Amino acid sequence: MMRKLMVAGNWKLHGNQAMLRQWLADFDAFDESLKGLDVALCVPYVYVPLLKAAAADSIITGAQDVSAHDTGAHTGEVSAKMLQDVGTQLVLIGHSERRQDHGESDDLVRAKFQQALAQGLMPVVCVGESQQQREQGEAFAVIERQLKAVIDLLNVDNAAQCFIAYEPIWAIGTGLTASAEQAQEVHQFIRSQLASKDVTMARQIRLLYGGSCKGSNAFELFSMPDVDGGLIGGASLTAEDFMAICQQAKKQLNKTQSS
Ligand code: 13P
Repeated sequence: MMRKLMVAGNWKLHGNQAMLRQWLADFDAFDESLKGLDVALCVPYVYVPLLKAAAADSIITGAQDVSAHDTGAHTGEVSAKMLQDVGTQLVLIGHSERRQDHGESDDLVRAKFQQALAQGLMPVVCVGESQQQREQGEAFAVIERQLKAVIDLLNVDNAAQCFIAYEPIWAIGTGLTASAEQAQEVHQFIRSQLASKDVTMARQIRLLYGGSCKGSNAFELFSMPDVDGGLIGGASLTAEDFMAICQQAKKQLNKTQSS
């Protein structure tokens, strides 16, 4: 089964309007055909409308979080419906920085996932172990627990619109990338967990790798059978670096199409 590769940028707490306009102009100017790839950019909430208005149709508009509530007295929250209202198509859920900095639990991640699905947003659920958990041999148990929070909400009807991103915490922003083999090992584990619920669903859902992914290592990572693209932090901040990763995804796509 051919899953479409996805390259998604995550700007985190970076950027401003001028930077986003420049990024979009630069990205456009590379004039590369990204046909056959999905490309997304997740910007801070306030820049979503600008991204939606200024991006070419080829870029999927993404946000970095969503409220677990649909409406009501929840100051500072942004609902899935509001995101959908301003044209958001995709949303990150349970990024490790939110789990760590804001104490997001698996239950909260589940509630956010439900909100995203209910509004037809494409949820990207982020999972991944810390350095200490890896060293203590707990990586698979941690990921299994994180997956368990959402697995029963996944099915053949929504799988093609849903993503799981494996982002080992020790690889985020550190320059330490998981080797392609390490990434594949975990991705295969994730897919097997999903397959224990539904084999067809597991084949359809796309699994992204995130953590110091860049132009120089993207091809190897994307060539792994269970790695269906990347979630890119630092290297998404300039259009040039981000395009370099998209080009590697394109190269991978061309390779599979010709084989
Ligand atoms: P870096 O690419 O900067 O390591 O960040 C990865 C990430 O957290 C994307 O969500």
